Amino acid sequence: MSDVLIRGRVLTFVREPAGIDDAGAYRYHEDGAVLVRNGKVADVGTYADLAKRAGSGISIADHRPNLVLPGLIDTHLHFPQTQAIASYGAQLLEWLNTYIFVEEQKFQESQHAAFIAGRFMDELLSNGTTTAVAYCSVHPESVEAFFTAAEERNMLMIGGKVMMDRNAPEALRDTPQKGYDETKHLIGKWHGRGRAHYAISPRFAITSTPEQMEMSRALVAEHPDCYVQTHLSENRDEIAFATSLYPGAQDYTDIYTSYDLLGRKTLLGHCIYMSDREISVLAETGAVGVFCPTSNLFLGSGLFDRDRFDRLGARHSVATDVGAGTSFSMLETMDEAYKVLHLQGQRLSPLNSFYMMTLGNARALDLEHRIGSLHAGADADIVILDSRAKPAMELRMQVASSLAEELFVLQTMGDDRCVAEVYVAGRPMKRGRREQAKTLIE
Ligand code: GUN
Ligand code: FE
Repeated sequence: MSDVLIRGRVLTFVREPAGIDDAGAYRYHEDGAVLVRNGKVADVGTYADLAKRAGSGISIADHRPNLVLPGLIDTHLHFPQTQAIASYGAQLLEWLNTYIFVEEQKFQESQHAAFIAGRFMDELLSNGTTTAVAYCSVHPESVEAFFTAAEERNMLMIGGKVMMDRNAPEALRDTPQKGYDETKHLIGKWHGRGRAHYAISPRFAITSTPEQMEMSRALVAEHPDCYVQTHLSENRDEIAFATSLYPGAQDYTDIYTSYDLLGRKTLLGHCIYMSDREISVLAETGAVGVFCPTSNLFLGSGLFDRDRFDRLGARHSVATDVGAGTSFSMLETMDEAYKVLHLQGQRLSPLNSFYMMTLGNARALDLEHRIGSLHAGADADIVILDSRAKPAMELRMQVASSLAEELFVLQTMGDDRCVAEVYVAGRPMKRGRREQAKTLIE
């Protein structure tokens, strides 16, 4: 692959911003460029410097006046729920039983799983998301479809087969042994193949027997380099049910701790009704609480207390949680995150939002050397954002006077229309696809 110089207003974070305009937290080049070579970032700087160093004959993708950022990262969503967004009127447990456990049964069909997996990846890319951590269904076919679709697009994706052996319809249940064997086989086939990473995925305490939790413990011990994902403290009825099923545990978090499931590679969806003790356990183990604002509002679950996580030193990340989450867009997700925090008297600065979607989420995955920031040696996963993509944004931008203000407009008013292009390992995926489609029609 030949070198490409991606030109535009380059923005990338180097640390978490401390306030509304903490200029030390990011690098910004008004007329900047990213040199891409063999799918990696080779250099980042001003366009003048990079063009001089690259010499003549270099191909240039000119995205001025748009922003050039690292590809966005989504740390929790469900690929088999792509067609279940906007399922009406229920809170978590009723929503799962009424809609989700019906929808996920469709994924025993390989053809259906493959169709949705492809559309799912394309939808992520349309929204500028280049890496995501996803639950598949209980069926190994869904995991095959998921990683195949990711591999076809060369996306760095993390996912795994949901394990559940109770409190779900027969057609969606495995057994402790089956869940173990299928997970083991899928890890062997996919984990570390190309850009794929496996996540061991007991759905949550309600849908796994103690025997399945034991099997999860074994899987985690045998594969310490795999991720672990589950759900924790999303809804009061869920907490009461989960703790009633594990009477020996002192609280919901303790259920997972007692099976050694918490560590730096563990992602815990929601974490809303947490005691200080529970958040401190996350801090001690390095497990990550995942803030899912659109989902928590949509299901009427509650408000994630980010400041308490920070105060107690626990790691957190942010995610869409499609299909309880209502949008694939991380911009729309941060818009809702801002409001959820605002309701609790907490602030989310626009710089911090963009940090969270990129470097913050990469750090939560311990992948900051590869994704989430633009530096020499990183994977060239890049999103191009247009802050004037909608007429109302164009008007609003006429009176914007700082980068932070522009980012806030993007997050508050933006969506997939603002994603002008997205690069996966250096390859343009959006315009590229549109042009391909046009050629096919012509
Ligand atoms: N808890 C267990 N499964 C799910 C799920 O699919 N979505 C959400 N939001 N919470 C869950
Ligand atoms: Fe979820």
